[in-house]
Amino acid sequence: MKFFIDTANLEQIHKAQSLGILDGVTTNPSLMAKEGVKGLDNIYDHYKAICNIVDGPVSAEVFANDLDGMIKEGEILHALDPKKITIKLPCTEDGIKAVKYFSEKGYATNCTLVFTVGQALLAAKAGATFVSPFIGRLDDIGSDGIALLKQIVDMYNYYEFDTQVLAASVRHSRHILRCIEVGADIATCPLNTILDLVNHPLTQKGVEIFNKDADKMR
Ligand code: G3P
Repeated sequence: MKFFIDTANLEQIHKAQSLGILDGVTTNPSLMAKEGVKGLDNIYDHYKAICNIVDGPVSAEVFANDLDGMIKEGEILHALDPKKITIKLPCTEDGIKAVKYFSEKGYATNCTLVFTVGQALLAAKAGATFVSPFIGRLDDIGSDGIALLKQIVDMYNYYEFDTQVLAASVRHSRHILRCIEVGADIATCPLNTILDLVNHPLTQKGVEIFNKDADKMR
């Protein structure tokens, strides 16, 4: 399974990149706003800075809600780094049309805010490169995000869609382990959630014991 980091924070992206396991980045307007980036020029520069750190896809979300606006913004975003930028589009009627438009041009797209198998089917039929089911937000309302993820993975396998399932709204390391179990292609996670996978008290304790015994031999 691939790991993307779900942040627009350059320091955190650097840190994840330095681990050597980072496959890409996802951002959204809320994550960009959190970094205090203001004004279109600065926003575009910020995406370029992210692309310069990471050797992989970088999802940049359109702000527009209408098809014309999505197309205009998507073209600008794509031009920032045609090899790395993935145009992130919401799973709305206009969003699906925009996915189709960009997929026909060969541009990478990420169809986001997906909460049902039906939405995932439409995203794949429109040619999305990635589909982003928000598993944490479904759990928040008492639904089952991982169950949806599995349904999408199974449906894509059954119909042999190329669209990759990108588990989003990942909140804790248990979510990541469940993403692996159901066969998600990618999990996009906050840095802390990725680091939680590394750390185990028995690993730490084992290192301390080995250090003491190594000292005895020095
Ligand atoms: O990738 C989408 C993600 O940023 C949403 O996460 O925690 O806001 O539901 P969250």
